[in-house]
Amino acid sequence: MPVISFANPKGGAGKTTCALLLAGQIAHRGGKVCIIDADPERWISQWLASGTSSSDISVKSVTDPDMIIDTIIEASQRFAFVIVDLEGTASLAVAQAVGLSNLVLIPLQGASMDAKGAAKTIRLIESQSKMLGRQLEYRVVLTRTNAALMTRSLRNVRAQLDAAGVPVLSTPIVERAAYRDIFDFGLTLTELDGSATSNHPQAIQNAEEFLEEVITLLGKSGETE
Ligand SMILES: Nc1ncnc2c1ncn2[C@@H]1O[C@H](COP(=O)(O)OP(=O)(O)OP(=O)(O)O)[C@@H](O)[C@H]1O
Ligand SMILES: [Mg+2]
Repeated sequence: MPVISFANPKGGAGKTTCALLLAGQIAHRGGKVCIIDADPERWISQWLASGTSSSDISVKSVTDPDMIIDTIIEASQRFAFVIVDLEGTASLAVAQAVGLSNLVLIPLQGASMDAKGAAKTIRLIESQSKMLGRQLEYRVVLTRTNAALMTRSLRNVRAQLDAAGVPVLSTPIVERAAYRDIFDFGLTLTELDGSATSNHPQAIQNAEEFLEEVITLLGKSGETE
């Protein structure tokens, strides 16, 4: 049922990577998950076509932006989780997907702290919330953070976002080779060869914590609806 969208008009913020990590961990736990590939670049569809993943992730490609509403609604009736990977621009389809989401996640590269794209997405979420007459749930996800320097740099970034009143997920997504390997091999994180993947257990642990936090958030927002 829940629809989780990844949005940020800034290209390369980590939308597609986070979407696939989340879907991979849900599938690993046996959850019925569908990724809606709403990016004309079709990274998720290419991921599916390129590899030999035997994970139970369904991928639906949205070729006509006019179909995004119907595609999301239909998927939300059939799957336990629907994950929408949005394009790196601001468009009507992005606004429509955001409006249909139970949770909008806004990946933001922790190191670069280029918050303009995130701010644009937050404005979009606020205006959609007004239109709908209910507050849409959202969180910034800090991505590509440095595992070694986690505490200090992240404390600064978080402080800035806190000062601006922006809600941030506690779990950052660390910069890991394993998160690139999933695209290179067309596999999910847990399907990668552990002996050939650097820091595989840490990568899995990070993705698991990410999923846990998202599930907790969805549970909380469900209680208030
Ligand atoms: N946590 C991470 N660790 C390592 N590499 C990452 C991580 N997150 C993203 N990348 C890499 O950064 C690049 C951009 O990431 P991604 O495609 O997920 O961003 P995006 O927001 O979906 O971009 P676009 O707007 O172009 O769709 C990719 O090459 C990806 O492999
Ligand atoms: Mg993408």
